[in-house]
Amino acid sequence: MTISELLNKEELSHSDLVQLLKIERQEDMELLYRKADEIKQKYCGNKIHLRGIIEFSNYCRQDCYYCGIRNENKNVNRYRMSIEEILHSTSLIYNAGIRTIVLQSGEDLAYDKDKISRIIKSIKEKFDMAITLSLGQRTFEEYRQWKEAGADRYLLKHETANPSIYFDIHPYQNFEDRINHIKYLKSIDFQVGSGNIIGLPNQTLNDIADDIILCKVLNVDMASFSPFISADDTPYKNVSNCGIDIVLKTMAVARIYLKDVHIPATTALSTLNPDGRKKGLLAGANVIMPTYTPNNFRFNYLIYKNKPGGSESPNVKLSNLNELANELKLSFSSSKGHSLKI
Ligand code: 5AD
Repeated sequence: MTISELLNKEELSHSDLVQLLKIERQEDMELLYRKADEIKQKYCGNKIHLRGIIEFSNYCRQDCYYCGIRNENKNVNRYRMSIEEILHSTSLIYNAGIRTIVLQSGEDLAYDKDKISRIIKSIKEKFDMAITLSLGQRTFEEYRQWKEAGADRYLLKHETANPSIYFDIHPYQNFEDRINHIKYLKSIDFQVGSGNIIGLPNQTLNDIADDIILCKVLNVDMASFSPFISADDTPYKNVSNCGIDIVLKTMAVARIYLKDVHIPATTALSTLNPDGRKKGLLAGANVIMPTYTPNNFRFNYLIYKNKPGGSESPNVKLSNLNELANELKLSFSSSKGHSLKI
């Protein structure tokens, strides 16, 4: 079957996904990205959703082999932001017109159930915004309480759908548990984001097709496909960075297959290539997640090397994004950008 025949099929199988991920010819890649863009227009329109991230703590109890802020890395300057500091950063995000805030941290139990609930409630009292939590794997009871406190979404990547690679990258964690947590989050009505890392040791295109299919099986509302980038002082410090083409192809294939999900052009993509965001937006992405972590903290939140996010002021950051949107004839949504499924 030719690529254009494949792209016009009603239902794509696992082997179809693999065939699309294998595309190498320039003209075939263009067909793929054009189709992804068409589906994006149909399901997401021409609006980009912005999510402002605050990385409020880089303490982490986990030891993921790929991650720069893993517990065993003693060369990290650890920090925790106070509620007041978090609220100040939230006000910068709100004043920029962004209506979703992503609270991200390592798995830091110092922010216990009640402290996170207090943060959620304080934000909701002061700002009319959606809140996404990205705090790693916590207890079901904590998830429940945070949902009741007003959190809207939870981001928990499955990282890889291959249980054996899952074991390689974090031998202390269990793939089945991870999936059960994602299912639980869905069951209590969080809008859920998941996704993978591309370029992990021993990962094949079959695995990446499985990652995309798993996002459908889990019925996630957001799916993030981001490149592996090596981090200093980690067991994977010498593993090569992922190439950009496979990431863009994965995003495009995911857009075509999953249709009504939010797909971000990730920060990691712009680390691989200065035009990463633009390329991502042209390959099916409809979300950008600029970092609003204060400069005195953000350079210690190095989950991988050369993580950008720039030290420019929030206004400059926003005007750079505006320029990009204009160039692509896209505009920013002024809504909270809830799930496309509800
Ligand atoms: N390369 C790419 N992604 C990484 N993450 C953590 N470390 C890396 C790395 N070295 C991603 C994981 C995690 C998210 C917060 O950051 O997917 O879920």
